[in-house]
Amino acid sequence: MKALALLAALLLAGCSGWQSALDPHSSEAAQLAGLFWFFTAVCALIWIAVVIALAMVLLRRRRTPNDAPEEEHPMAARRKTTIVTGLALSTALVLLIFGLTSFYATRGITWYDTQTITLKVTGQQWWWQVEYQNQDASQDFITANEIHIPVGKPVTLELDAMDVIHSFWVPSLMGKKDLIPGRKNFITLKADEPGLYRGQCAEFCGLEHAKMAILVFAEPQDKFEAWRRHQIEAAKTPGAPERLHGMDIFVHRQCASCHSISGTDAGGQTAPDLTHFGGRATIAAGLFHNTPDNLDRWLANPQQFKPGSNMPQVPLSREDRAALVAYLEGLT
Ligand code: CUA
Repeated sequence: MKALALLAALLLAGCSGWQSALDPHSSEAAQLAGLFWFFTAVCALIWIAVVIALAMVLLRRRRTPNDAPEEEHPMAARRKTTIVTGLALSTALVLLIFGLTSFYATRGITWYDTQTITLKVTGQQWWWQVEYQNQDASQDFITANEIHIPVGKPVTLELDAMDVIHSFWVPSLMGKKDLIPGRKNFITLKADEPGLYRGQCAEFCGLEHAKMAILVFAEPQDKFEAWRRHQIEAAKTPGAPERLHGMDIFVHRQCASCHSISGTDAGGQTAPDLTHFGGRATIAAGLFHNTPDNLDRWLANPQQFKPGSNMPQVPLSREDRAALVAYLEGLT
């Protein structure tokens, strides 16, 4: 009974909240949800009609005493032909209506305006690189796995992939769009209300496909602008000796060959930019909440939590790892 209640709670939780196509928070997502409910309602009606027709046929059959084939009356034969033709035509009509409504609904939402492009999202195995681009290159910055957007403003994302095909899907805001290596795709996000919207890679892209989440923070314009300005700044050199030691480890051990932290000598280009890592909500593309304990667990053995990812286990003493955690968590 308890297990059943838990299952019901899980199922219900799946239907609303921060990652659900049935809980739309933009007009585009609302259109897609409307399409879903329209298809579901029509299919449910057809299913009920079929079940009723089946029951009627079975009941009538039982009333016929012998199994001898009914004599085909010309009137009855004509009626059967009319019914079958009518059903075939209505099937075609329903399919036509489905085709047209989904065509117009999806065509209406897949607009984009290259004038509003502010960011480029590149799918990697298995994380998202996010580049905020500006006409003034000094305003550019790179982050990972978390996107901030101003509420009510359309933000166009240019989608690309480094390795294999991924799919960008933040269901409460928009439908899916693939990220294909060597091809530019575009998607426009516009959140109607502030909030945190979770997304997930929606195209199987390898071992850790399921651990490739993206978070979209829709914020009021001034909060977004403050965040944006802060992201442009280089990381501050720490004052505390432990954090300085952590920075030294980061820059002079393996970390810097893959990760970048602006304002330091760490300039690796193949892993997430960590300049403002401490300000992010999660670690490793939504795998853990970003807390010192979780970061310590992650650094101690990344392959235990995300097997197959490019993050290696760097042999560090407990003290060195604590210093590294202190340094990274301080990069707000
Ligand atoms: Cu990336 Cu699935």
